[in-house]
Amino acid sequence: MPASIHVPNHPLVQHHLAALRDAATPPQLFRHLVNEIAQILFYEATRDLKLKPATVATPVAEASVAVLAESIALVPVLRAGLGMANAMLEALPTASVWHLGLYRDHQTLKPVTYYNKLPNNHGLDVAFVLDPMLATGGSAIEAINILKRAGVPSVRFIGLIAAPEGVKALQEAHPDVPAYLGAIDSHLNELGYIVPGLGDAGDRQFGTV
Ligand code: PRP
Ligand code: URA
Repeated sequence: MPASIHVPNHPLVQHHLAALRDAATPPQLFRHLVNEIAQILFYEATRDLKLKPATVATPVAEASVAVLAESIALVPVLRAGLGMANAMLEALPTASVWHLGLYRDHQTLKPVTYYNKLPNNHGLDVAFVLDPMLATGGSAIEAINILKRAGVPSVRFIGLIAAPEGVKALQEAHPDVPAYLGAIDSHLNELGYIVPGLGDAGDRQFGTV
Protein backbone atom coordinates (compact mmCIF):
# COMPACT_ATOMS: atom_id res chain seq x y z
CA MET A 1 0.00 0.00 0.00
CA PRO A 2 1.68 3.31 -1.06
CA ALA A 3 2.02 6.01 1.57
CA SER A 4 -0.45 8.85 1.51
CA ILE A 5 0.68 12.16 0.04
CA HIS A 6 -1.07 15.24 1.42
CA VAL A 7 -0.86 18.61 -0.34
CA PRO A 8 -3.32 20.78 1.60
CA ASN A 9 -3.48 23.57 -1.04
CA HIS A 10 -4.32 25.95 1.78
CA PRO A 11 -4.55 29.53 0.43
CA LEU A 12 -2.06 30.78 3.04
CA VAL A 13 0.43 28.06 2.07
CA GLN A 14 0.15 29.06 -1.57
CA HIS A 15 0.46 32.77 -0.74
CA HIS A 16 3.56 32.29 1.42
CA LEU A 17 5.13 29.85 -1.07
CA ALA A 18 4.88 32.53 -3.77
CA ALA A 19 7.12 34.85 -1.74
CA LEU A 20 9.39 31.99 -0.64
CA ARG A 21 10.11 31.08 -4.25
CA ASP A 22 10.92 34.70 -5.21
CA ALA A 23 14.69 35.02 -5.74
CA ALA A 24 14.46 38.59 -4.38
CA THR A 25 13.24 37.44 -0.93
CA PRO A 26 16.04 38.08 1.63
CA PRO A 27 17.00 35.50 4.32
CA GLN A 28 15.12 37.16 7.20
CA LEU A 29 11.83 37.12 5.27
CA PHE A 30 12.64 33.65 3.89
CA ARG A 31 12.98 32.30 7.47
CA HIS A 32 9.71 33.94 8.48
CA LEU A 33 7.91 32.35 5.53
CA VAL A 34 9.40 28.90 6.26
CA ASN A 35 8.05 29.32 9.79
CA GLU A 36 4.54 30.25 8.61
CA ILE A 37 4.20 27.45 6.06
CA ALA A 38 5.72 24.83 8.34
CA GLN A 39 3.23 25.60 11.08
CA ILE A 40 0.23 25.15 8.77
CA LEU A 41 1.63 21.85 7.47
CA PHE A 42 2.25 20.71 11.04
CA TYR A 43 -1.42 21.23 11.90
CA GLU A 44 -2.32 19.06 8.90
CA ALA A 45 0.20 16.37 9.80
CA THR A 46 -0.95 16.13 13.42
CA ARG A 47 -4.70 15.96 12.70
CA ASP A 48 -4.98 12.27 13.56
CA LEU A 49 -2.64 12.04 16.58
CA LYS A 50 -4.12 9.88 19.33
CA LEU A 51 -5.65 11.47 22.42
CA LYS A 52 -6.32 10.07 25.86
CA PRO A 53 -8.84 11.26 28.43
CA ALA A 54 -7.74 13.28 31.45
CA THR A 55 -9.26 15.54 34.07
CA VAL A 56 -8.26 19.03 35.19
CA ALA A 57 -9.62 21.25 37.92
CA THR A 58 -10.83 24.52 36.44
CA PRO A 59 -11.51 27.41 38.85
CA VAL A 60 -15.16 26.28 38.72
CA ALA A 61 -15.31 22.47 38.51
CA GLU A 62 -13.55 19.33 37.36
CA ALA A 63 -13.40 19.13 33.55
CA SER A 64 -13.06 16.05 31.39
CA VAL A 65 -10.40 16.88 28.80
CA ALA A 66 -8.25 15.17 26.16
CA VAL A 67 -4.46 15.28 25.97
CA LEU A 68 -1.97 13.81 23.51
CA ALA A 69 -1.45 10.11 24.14
CA GLU A 70 1.72 9.79 22.06
CA SER A 71 5.26 11.07 22.56
CA ILE A 72 6.46 13.18 19.63
CA ALA A 73 9.87 14.08 18.22
CA LEU A 74 10.69 16.64 15.56
CA VAL A 75 13.62 15.53 13.43
CA PRO A 76 14.99 18.48 11.44
CA VAL A 77 17.40 17.50 8.67
CA LEU A 78 20.30 19.98 8.95
CA ARG A 79 20.61 22.57 7.87
CA ALA A 80 17.43 23.54 6.13
CA GLY A 81 15.00 21.68 8.41
CA LEU A 82 16.00 23.83 11.41
CA GLY A 83 13.60 26.68 10.63
CA MET A 84 10.73 24.23 10.35
CA ALA A 85 11.52 22.76 13.78
CA ASN A 86 11.36 26.19 15.42
CA ALA A 87 7.90 26.73 13.94
CA MET A 88 6.62 23.41 15.17
CA LEU A 89 8.08 23.85 18.66
CA GLU A 90 5.95 26.98 18.96
CA ALA A 91 2.89 24.83 18.20
CA LEU A 92 3.97 21.88 20.38
CA PRO A 93 6.61 22.97 22.93
CA THR A 94 6.65 19.54 24.62
CA ALA A 95 8.02 17.79 21.50
CA SER A 96 11.60 16.52 21.60
CA VAL A 97 14.02 17.62 18.89
CA TRP A 98 16.37 15.03 17.38
CA HIS A 99 18.96 16.60 15.07
CA LEU A 100 20.16 14.73 11.99
CA GLY A 101 22.88 16.18 9.77
CA LEU A 102 22.77 15.09 6.12
CA TYR A 103 24.12 16.82 3.06
CA ARG A 104 23.76 15.89 -0.56
CA ASP A 105 27.02 15.13 -2.35
CA HIS A 106 27.09 17.51 -5.33
CA GLN A 107 28.52 14.90 -7.73
CA THR A 108 26.51 11.80 -6.83
CA LEU A 109 23.44 13.56 -5.31
CA LYS A 110 23.57 10.85 -2.62
CA PRO A 111 23.05 11.82 1.03
CA VAL A 112 26.03 11.84 3.40
CA THR A 113 25.30 11.62 7.15
CA TYR A 114 27.58 13.81 9.29
CA TYR A 115 25.63 14.26 12.54
CA ASN A 116 23.22 12.06 14.47
CA LYS A 117 21.83 13.15 17.83
CA LEU A 118 19.22 10.44 18.31
CA PRO A 119 18.83 9.41 21.96
CA ASN A 120 19.15 5.81 23.15
CA ASN A 121 16.22 4.00 24.80
CA HIS A 122 13.82 6.68 23.63
CA GLY A 123 10.45 4.89 23.74
CA LEU A 124 9.21 7.41 21.15
CA ASP A 125 5.83 6.97 19.42
CA VAL A 126 5.87 9.37 16.45
CA ALA A 127 8.71 11.19 14.63
CA PHE A 128 8.21 14.00 12.13
CA VAL A 129 11.07 14.33 9.64
CA LEU A 130 11.39 17.98 8.60
CA ASP A 131 13.11 19.08 5.42
CA PRO A 132 11.94 21.90 3.13
CA MET A 133 13.08 20.14 -0.06
CA LEU A 134 12.26 16.63 -1.31
CA ALA A 135 14.32 16.52 -4.51
CA THR A 136 15.68 13.07 -5.44
CA GLY A 137 14.28 11.90 -2.09
CA GLY A 138 17.65 10.47 -1.03
CA SER A 139 18.00 12.61 2.11
CA ALA A 140 14.45 11.98 3.35
CA ILE A 141 14.74 8.24 2.67
CA GLU A 142 18.04 8.02 4.56
CA ALA A 143 16.68 10.06 7.50
CA ILE A 144 13.71 7.68 7.73
CA ASN A 145 16.04 4.65 7.45
CA ILE A 146 17.96 5.97 10.47
CA LEU A 147 14.78 6.48 12.49
CA LYS A 148 13.44 3.03 11.66
CA ARG A 149 16.77 1.43 12.59
CA ALA A 150 16.49 3.30 15.92
CA GLY A 151 13.13 1.61 16.52
CA VAL A 152 10.74 4.53 15.93
CA PRO A 153 7.37 2.90 15.22
CA SER A 154 5.68 5.73 13.30
CA VAL A 155 7.34 8.28 11.00
CA ARG A 156 5.84 11.14 8.99
CA PHE A 157 7.58 13.51 6.55
CA ILE A 158 6.87 17.24 6.24
CA GLY A 159 8.35 19.23 3.34
CA LEU A 160 7.68 22.57 1.69
CA ILE A 161 8.42 21.74 -1.96
CA ALA A 162 8.81 18.33 -3.62
CA ALA A 163 9.74 17.01 -7.04
CA PRO A 164 7.63 14.18 -8.48
CA GLU A 165 10.83 12.08 -8.63
CA GLY A 166 11.34 12.47 -4.87
CA VAL A 167 7.71 11.69 -4.05
CA LYS A 168 7.91 8.47 -6.08
CA ALA A 169 11.21 7.42 -4.50
CA LEU A 170 9.91 8.10 -0.99
CA GLN A 171 6.72 6.13 -1.63
CA GLU A 172 8.71 3.18 -2.99
CA ALA A 173 11.27 3.15 -0.17
CA HIS A 174 8.86 3.84 2.70
CA PRO A 175 5.30 2.97 1.71
CA ASP A 176 4.17 3.34 5.32
CA VAL A 177 5.34 6.96 5.73
CA PRO A 178 2.82 9.68 4.90
CA ALA A 179 4.15 12.95 3.48
CA TYR A 180 2.70 16.43 4.03
CA LEU A 181 3.87 18.83 1.33
CA GLY A 182 3.34 22.49 0.48
CA ALA A 183 3.64 21.86 -3.27
CA ILE A 184 4.73 19.27 -5.83
CA ASP A 185 6.65 20.99 -8.63
CA SER A 186 7.41 20.05 -12.24
CA HIS A 187 10.70 18.08 -12.25
CA LEU A 188 14.38 18.00 -11.27
CA ASN A 189 16.94 19.71 -13.48
CA GLU A 190 20.28 18.15 -14.51
CA LEU A 191 21.89 19.41 -11.28
CA GLY A 192 19.22 17.81 -9.11
CA TYR A 193 17.45 21.09 -8.28
CA ILE A 194 13.66 21.25 -8.13
CA VAL A 195 12.11 23.22 -11.04
CA PRO A 196 10.80 25.85 -10.47
CA GLY A 197 11.54 25.24 -6.74
CA LEU A 198 13.23 27.98 -4.76
CA GLY A 199 16.94 27.25 -5.21
CA ASP A 200 19.06 25.99 -2.30
CA ALA A 201 16.87 26.06 0.81
CA GLY A 202 19.81 26.02 3.27
CA ASP A 203 21.69 28.83 1.54
CA ARG A 204 18.59 31.00 1.22
CA GLN A 205 17.62 30.46 4.85
CA PHE A 206 21.04 31.20 6.29
CA GLY A 207 22.37 33.77 3.82
CA THR A 208 25.22 31.62 2.48
CA VAL A 209 24.44 31.99 -1.25
C1 PRP B 1 19.05 19.96 0.68
C2 PRP B 1 17.69 19.83 1.36
C3 PRP B 1 17.56 18.35 1.54
C4 PRP B 1 18.25 17.81 0.32
C5 PRP B 1 17.20 17.36 -0.64
O1 PRP B 1 20.06 19.85 1.63
O2 PRP B 1 17.57 20.56 2.54
O3 PRP B 1 18.16 17.87 2.74
O4 PRP B 1 19.03 18.87 -0.22
O5 PRP B 1 17.75 16.72 -1.73
P1 PRP B 1 17.48 15.18 -2.04
O6 PRP B 1 16.01 14.95 -1.91
O7 PRP B 1 17.96 15.03 -3.45
O8 PRP B 1 18.28 14.36 -1.07
P2 PRP B 1 21.62 20.10 1.24
O9 PRP B 1 22.26 18.84 0.79
O10 PRP B 1 21.68 21.26 0.29
O11 PRP B 1 22.26 20.47 2.64
P3 PRP B 1 22.20 21.84 3.47
O12 PRP B 1 20.78 21.98 3.99
O13 PRP B 1 23.15 21.63 4.57
O14 PRP B 1 22.56 22.96 2.55
N1 URA C 1 18.03 20.93 -2.25
C1 URA C 1 17.64 22.23 -2.28
O1 URA C 1 17.91 22.99 -1.33
N2 URA C 1 16.97 22.67 -3.36
C2 URA C 1 16.66 21.87 -4.40
O2 URA C 1 16.02 22.35 -5.35
C3 URA C 1 17.07 20.53 -4.36
C4 URA C 1 17.75 20.08 -3.26
